[in-house]
Amino acid sequence: MLEQFSIDVDQGLSSEHKYLPSKYFYDKVGDALFVKIMALPEYYLTRAEMDIFEQQTLSMLNAWALDKHQHFELIELGAGDGSKTKKLLTTLKRKQYNFDYLPIDISANALDQLEASLARELPDIKVHKQQGDYFKILASLKSSHHPKVVLFLGSSIGNMSDEEANGFLIQLGKTLNPQDKLLLGADLIKPESLVLPAYNDSQGVTRDFNLNLLARINRELGGDFDLNQFKHDPSYTQQEGIAKSYLTSLADQRITVKHTGKQYWFKAGEKIYTEISRKYSDEIIQNIIEGSGFQMIDKLTDQNNLFADYIFNKR
Ligand SMILES: C[S@@+](CC[C@H](N)C(=O)[O-])C[C@H]1O[C@@H](n2cnc3c(N)ncnc32)[C@H](O)[C@@H]1O
Repeated sequence: MLEQFSIDVDQGLSSEHKYLPSKYFYDKVGDALFVKIMALPEYYLTRAEMDIFEQQTLSMLNAWALDKHQHFELIELGAGDGSKTKKLLTTLKRKQYNFDYLPIDISANALDQLEASLARELPDIKVHKQQGDYFKILASLKSSHHPKVVLFLGSSIGNMSDEEANGFLIQLGKTLNPQDKLLLGADLIKPESLVLPAYNDSQGVTRDFNLNLLARINRELGGDFDLNQFKHDPSYTQQEGIAKSYLTSLADQRITVKHTGKQYWFKAGEKIYTEISRKYSDEIIQNIIEGSGFQMIDKLTDQNNLFADYIFNKR
């Protein structure tokens, strides 16, 4: 893990347009900051998707049309704290469905906390956690022949470019069998006045989350980033529909990272691109599922029409 982190950091900081992969946001500090982000007044995404999970889990079950007596696997990619999923787990248990829950996350800390909270809150549910990069774990899902329902919530798909998302969904489609289901959470395109504050809140939690990437390089790879010399710098236009997060260097500076054994030069104003958060329309969703074998069977939206959970059947 440390080796891969070091390789990815070196690649990103050596590139002409510097970048850092967003999956490295999630260490213990980043997980805790993300839990804070979800509760921010400006971060409408979690509340909107929670509204769907509070009001419409029965519609999900209707769309999935599962046989109550046949065992199935509920697989979640990037489960995080599982707060929305717990609403679904509660309904599934109440309706006496026969299933195991398989959360996958790159953060061992997030998975341990999720497992512990489920043992307290929903002790009857069988949980099999898997730590790792979901891009790598996808292939291993194929070995099980139980029917599967895959959850990919929180608009995490939006952290990929449309091309990457399409490749990811094609790969996911190949690991599933006909009649397996996918529920894909997607933040809908909306004005800048709503989107931008979600990535640039008044308390500075999203700033700290973004800067934690540099702090993590300092902690784990022996970097010497001065966090005061970088600025959290998000942008969004409704026309493009993509929120972008950057860290902008405030000075000409040289950074040393012991673990990569290299120095990296920054000009004042130079940006490190850290994350995109794509916003969606039905048309963009249709484009990214192209060639994946998924057919849309339902679309559930929250009361304010901010967020959608798209439900697909694997043909
Ligand atoms: C934005 S949070 C969303 C959490 C949850 N799905 C929700 O909707 O609230 C993203 C989660 O995905 C995990 N994650 C990010 N990139 C990942 C990757 N490549 N493989 C596995 N998990 C990843 C993070 O650790 C984090 O828990």
